[in-house]
Amino acid sequence: MRTASNLTVSQYQLAALNRIAFLAATAADVCTLFQEAGTELMHAFSADGMGVLLLDPVTGERVVAHRRGLTPEGEALWAALPTRDTLTAQVVADGRARSWLREDFAPAAQAILAHTGYWAEAAVPLQIHARVLGCLNVTFRQPRRLDPAQLELLHAMASHFAAAVESQRLLARQRAVSAENAQLYEELRLASAELARNQTQLAQRGHLASLGEMTAVLAHELRNPLAILGNAHALLERRENAEPELRRQALRAMGQELKRMNQLVEELLHFGRPTAPSFEPLCLWALVEEVKEAVSAHLPPQVEVSVELHGEMPRISFDARLIRQALVNLALNGAQAMPAGGRLTLRLQETSRGAQLEVEDEGMGITPEVRARMFEPFFTTRATGTGLGLALVQHAVVQHQGHLEVHSAPGEGTTFRIELPRSPSAPAPSA
Ligand SMILES: Nc1ncnc2c1ncn2[C@@H]1O[C@H](COP(=O)(O)OP(=O)(O)O)[C@@H](O)[C@H]1O
Ligand SMILES: [Mg+2]
Repeated sequence: MRTASNLTVSQYQLAALNRIAFLAATAADVCTLFQEAGTELMHAFSADGMGVLLLDPVTGERVVAHRRGLTPEGEALWAALPTRDTLTAQVVADGRARSWLREDFAPAAQAILAHTGYWAEAAVPLQIHARVLGCLNVTFRQPRRLDPAQLELLHAMASHFAAAVESQRLLARQRAVSAENAQLYEELRLASAELARNQTQLAQRGHLASLGEMTAVLAHELRNPLAILGNAHALLERRENAEPELRRQALRAMGQELKRMNQLVEELLHFGRPTAPSFEPLCLWALVEEVKEAVSAHLPPQVEVSVELHGEMPRISFDARLIRQALVNLALNGAQAMPAGGRLTLRLQETSRGAQLEVEDEGMGITPEVRARMFEPFFTTRATGTGLGLALVQHAVVQHQGHLEVHSAPGEGTTFRIELPRSPSAPAPSA
């Protein structure tokens, strides 16, 4: 910033410079600054008029930001004059301060000065470093030329105006940027709220869809056994003295259907509320044999169940309930795939990671279409299926951080292979 440094500058003018510096640093806005500092400046120079002209930072257009000592008519005369004839245009163009008497002006400008009663004008650039923001001028009703020291003082005062203009602009730009940031932030917030809402809706739709499917399956599943139970019950009631064989048949049918309904409820409960697995170092081979016994009792005699242990007895930790359920489901599926009978093999083998279980049948095999959907809950191709078996198998494998594979060729049978790690780590969060 420039400072005044010549003896022709009075104490009073130096004090005015200080006050202008203070006003520039503290004014709430540039209009207030032009008003208050303008008054100081006019007093300091005993000027009769003054003006501040600013270049629009975007368009470069000249804008009269402040004006004193001119009537609206005088203002209009100056505005109509080609800018090259004005003093301010020249100062803005080359950034050099000037002090002119009426005779230094172009004839058209001289006429306006005469008309408005002015004899002299001095103008200095409003500058930040080399950048010219505009210019500040003072006008006199006497033919008065400012000496270099006075011009330098005016320039020093103008530099405070320039600094204030610049910081106001920076502030405005910063406000605009923060407003833009705030708007972006708001848009982002709205967008993520919308996303969250969509996700919830999707999830709800998914839940509703499976709830709808589940209701349909349940209704279907319950209607058959209920019809059979109803028939058997009616028969027993109507024919109290029915032959013992008929009564036995009716009771057996009722028992079977009750069992089927129980099974359905059981599977649904497992599926709907899977509890966290608990892994224990148990004997997997014992479990395989137990499953063989359990399923054999339910299978027709033409299905032959066998178990095989290959190599050493694997020692691993597992959740017995989940693995038993998975094996039973795979074994029943295998048996159901062999309506004409065949061999069902449960195989256990130790692996480097842990253990491998296989359930192999000699059934009809799985088509690619069924294969693509068979793990979906409720997907079934069987009239009496629940479609929950393989979904439960997959759930059990996932809980053990294991691996599930299917090998199947239509007409040649199917093998489901489960790989289990030796000791599953922390239980996966239950779905
Ligand atoms: N071993 C298999 N052989 C042929 N098809 C199978 C076998 N296991 C499963 N599937 C097919 O996968 C479907 C889904 O099986 P699952 O989830 O156990 O339900 P469900 O047994 O109630 O039908 C079955 O309906 C069947 O079409
Ligand atoms: Mg099944």
